[in-house]
Formats: sequence, structure tokens, C-alpha cells
Amino acid sequence: EVMGILDGRADLERELRRVLGLRAVRVVSGDLDENPEVKGDLGFTAARFLREVLRRGDVVAVTGGTTVAAVAARMPPVHPGNILVVPARGGVGERMEYQANTIAADLAERLRAEYLLFHVPDRLSEEAYRSLAGEPQIAEKLQLIRQASIVVHGIGQAIAMARRRRLPPEEIAVLEERGAVGEAFGYYFDRDGRIVYQQHTLGLGLGDLSGMRAVIAVAGGRGKAGAIAAVAKAVAPHMLVTDEGAAREILARY
Ligand code: BG6
Repeated sequence: EVMGILDGRADLERELRRVLGLRAVRVVSGDLDENPEVKGDLGFTAARFLREVLRRGDVVAVTGGTTVAAVAARMPPVHPGNILVVPARGGVGERMEYQANTIAADLAERLRAEYLLFHVPDRLSEEAYRSLAGEPQIAEKLQLIRQASIVVHGIGQAIAMARRRRLPPEEIAVLEERGAVGEAFGYYFDRDGRIVYQQHTLGLGLGDLSGMRAVIAVAGGRGKAGAIAAVAKAVAPHMLVTDEGAAREILARY
């Protein structure tokens, strides 16, 4: 904390907490968009918080993405025992190392925990969604996932994320029209944190977050400022870990 005070980050944290109406915020120095090494610091800071809140018997859910992958990579060894790590949702057809399944397995190894894999496409037609949710094996896993007491999630820029998920151009046009700026858990949010678009996906839904002991959001880079603010308003995480680049930009805009 001394470092935070010396370079003014404690002030940034306080302001950001106030503007976004959050309980706790950590701001690491630098801007991920200018320095890729900042991702490691975001990961380390979120991992340290996770270590603080983790208790025996917890089910920990993780989303995909490069930032949450950095959390797993920087997790200090701690083994409270009887931990289960689960992916928050199915894959998004991303590179293997950034899929929630891979990150869950990686984090579990560091926590000497069990993990669960959930191999279901992230984007489903309504029909496929219904029939898959009815499959006993899938329903059983879903139930475990939805029991998560802690979740660590990334935040995406809406349009960039929609492209990464290969949404068809007409759907992307809908997102643009509705002013989508941020994405998390497959939901897309506008500037005020209102849901403007939602995918049919199996996994954690926004409603599942309300009962959790710790919702930990981690994202940085000036370019993600709007996305972070939108998701923070919608999700109201217990802890937001971000960087100076995003923090200053959010404060300039809100
Ligand atoms: C995805 C998550 O895998 O990663 C999204 O499912 C999140 O919810 C995104 O928005 C963020 O990715 P990154 O690589 O920018 O941390």
C-alpha cells in the first residue's frame, strides 16, 4: 500500500471506487496497451486477492481470456484443501491456452485442487441450448458450475469480443446499434451497464453472481476503459483489478 500512496494510485483507487460504486479496487501501475508486462501485474494482484478470500471447500469459477490466464499463471501456491476449479462457461473457439477449461486446469494445479472440464460450444442455437441443457451429464456439470462461491472473470470490448467469437456481421451490427461497449460472461452491456445482447450459452449467468462470496474482475489497458466501466456497473464485482491506463481514462470520461 505504501507504493500505492507514493505514486498516487491510492487516490486513483478511491476515486474509481466512488465513480463505479464498487467495494474494492486495485490499480496496478502502467497501461497494458503500452506495456504487455502489465498483464502479469494484473494477474499477480488478482491472484493475491484470490488467495486472501479462498477457503476450504470453495468452488472457484474462471472465465477465459489472456488476462484471467495471467491470474492462474501468477497464482501463489496455497492449498486450503477441497477446492474445485470450474470453467464459468464453455469454450469460445479461442486458442487453447486462453480457454476457460485450460485456465481452470492450470489454476487447479497451482491450488492442488480438482477441476472440471466443460466442453460445450459457447454459442448455441436456442434449440441446441435446450437439448444440451437436458443432457444428464451436462446438467450435472452445470449444477456444479453454478455452485461457485468465487469467480474470476475477464472483461472484453464488446465489438472486439464479438469478432473474436465470430458473431455474424448482422449480429455485430445489432450490437453497434444498441451501443454495446463491454462484454463479460457472454453478455454485452451498454455504457450504463444495461444488458443489450445475450448469447445462448451454458454456464454461469449474471443471476448466479449475486450469491457469491467473491466476484473478482480483472482487466486493464486504456482501450478497455469503457468496457470496464460498463461491466463494473452491471456486475458490481467485489474486487476490480485494473491498471492506471484504464483507471485514468475511466475517470476522465465518467
Ligand atoms: C473471454 C471471456 O475469454 O475473455 C470474456 O469469456 C472476456 O468474458 C475476455 O471478456 C477477455 O479477454 P482478454 O484476453 O482481453 O483478457
